[in-house]
Amino acid sequence: MAGRNVRRAGAAALAALSLAALSACSSGSGSDEGSGDELISVGFSQLGAESGWRTANTESVQASLTEEAGFDLTFVDAQQKQENQIKALRDFIAQDVDVIAFSPVIETGWDEVIEEIKDAEIPLVLVDRTVDTTVEDPYVTWIGADFKQEGITAGEWVKENAPDAKIFELQGTMGSGAQVDREEGFDSVVGEENIVGKASGNFTRAEGKAAVEAALQAYPETNLIFAHNDDMGLGAIEAIEAAGKVPGVDIKIVTIDGVHDGLQALLDGKFNYVVECNPVFGDQIADAIKKVYAGEELPKETIVVDQAFESITQEELDARLY
Ligand code: AHR
Repeated sequence: MAGRNVRRAGAAALAALSLAALSACSSGSGSDEGSGDELISVGFSQLGAESGWRTANTESVQASLTEEAGFDLTFVDAQQKQENQIKALRDFIAQDVDVIAFSPVIETGWDEVIEEIKDAEIPLVLVDRTVDTTVEDPYVTWIGADFKQEGITAGEWVKENAPDAKIFELQGTMGSGAQVDREEGFDSVVGEENIVGKASGNFTRAEGKAAVEAALQAYPETNLIFAHNDDMGLGAIEAIEAAGKVPGVDIKIVTIDGVHDGLQALLDGKFNYVVECNPVFGDQIADAIKKVYAGEELPKETIVVDQAFESITQEELDARLY
């Protein structure tokens, strides 16, 4: 990393010198951030706006990578399309930004563009989801949740509280790190033989609803739905109620995320268990980008801490950030 980014480390050193000079001439506010032209230019490719989680994550990133905090942010929403993300990444290379960050919609298919980023000597920070690539040393650092552990946590609740459940698994975007790892973790705990069917709802409420409508026809014995995110679980509620059944009672619902609407459903008794996936880590991303730009050593991965909810009070819900 240090060798690869000599040009950028040099830029960082120059920036630090001029900021030090500026701050020496200033009235001594103690902060040199945002005081000159030396903003860190960041190209951020967000994968989409498919869920409440994603909206909260975008807000957190944009609230942290501000000019006041020392960043010149170019933020692009890929609308859940890999080709849009690849185009955005190539645009960032053409702009010669200081650092590229992105949240990959699926795990594979990035080899070529990651090689191009490396050739351009632009450090890459991975956010939220992971990549599966043959490129050696493809990124500087990754910040996100432990998706496999989230699936395991959900599975352990099911195993303990509904051991004979006939489970329908509502998968996220196929091939995404969040789908692959949550499914692997959950299935390893509950056992494939307890899962009556699976289908993808692409992490959206509308597609989750459509998948559950079809599942209730195809697998009428279903009495528990494991949804890879809250939004699809909320779609499942609509489908279950439309079929004349009671969500949370006739058909239990276990989800991942812990966004406001999901935890409201838990409070209302329509969800039974929610494993959190905290989207509010913009500050950690900002901190990592500053360190990357300065050429500092970073851990290869930083796991965002999650909790899980079997119940929640109105007060606790109101106090949450998202
Ligand atoms: O990658 C994180 C997942 O992506 C969240 O669980 C989901 O809501 C989002 O779409």
